[in-house]
Amino acid sequence: MISRSIPKRQALASIRQLSNTSRLLQVTEQQDQPQDKKYTRDELTYGKLSPAQKAYLDRVIRVDQAGELGANYIYLGQILVLASRYPHLKPLLTHMREQEIHHHNTFNDLQVRRRVRPSLITPLWKVGAIGMGMGTALLSKEAAMACTVAVETVIGGHYNEQLRVLMNQYNVPIYDKQGKVVDKSEVTPTAIVSEELTSLKENIKLFRDQELEHLDIALENDAEKAVPYKLLTEGIKTVCKGAIWAAERI
Ligand SMILES: [Fe+2]
Ligand SMILES: [Fe+2]
Repeated sequence: MISRSIPKRQALASIRQLSNTSRLLQVTEQQDQPQDKKYTRDELTYGKLSPAQKAYLDRVIRVDQAGELGANYIYLGQILVLASRYPHLKPLLTHMREQEIHHHNTFNDLQVRRRVRPSLITPLWKVGAIGMGMGTALLSKEAAMACTVAVETVIGGHYNEQLRVLMNQYNVPIYDKQGKVVDKSEVTPTAIVSEELTSLKENIKLFRDQELEHLDIALENDAEKAVPYKLLTEGIKTVCKGAIWAAERI
């Protein structure tokens, strides 16, 4: 009896173990399937922006378009005065201006695509910016570089502020193709934000980095030797902040 019951008990135990293992495997598979399957962008639609979100986005495009136009004209003014007198500065200034033209064109496209009203004081931006570029360059090449430090500091900070708002306040609802609300945990991380907003944020990040690169170039080219550096940079920063305030509204 004893000799027959032991192997039976062992067999039962191993069957139980096997069935536990297979149940465990089944549970793991069931858990894996829905969790691993994440929605991709083409399986989703994104909710509409609220009127406040839309208004903010329009303001971002309007002010950035005007600001980049201004930056382009500041460098144009500096090139007109400095390029022949200091040939070694010409490629640097041209490189920075070309990047500003690209930034401006990007916001031009967005302005047309999203039908955003451009700033009404655009002609004023051109005159003011070329005047600022030429005026500081006529003072000295160091003053022109100090102007770049001031302008790029303000623009860099301005882009950072826009990125902060776009990251925090643009939680748009996501739906599957049947119109059911989808939780963000079920979505591939890169698809949580719509393509349009993702591309805007990536552009702003890239432009912010390039503005900071311009700032470094100006510092490397004796911006701090401008006299009077503090007065010049603080004055230009105040003008830029005023211009940003106006372009967002007018
Ligand atoms: Fe720029
Ligand atoms: Fe710049």
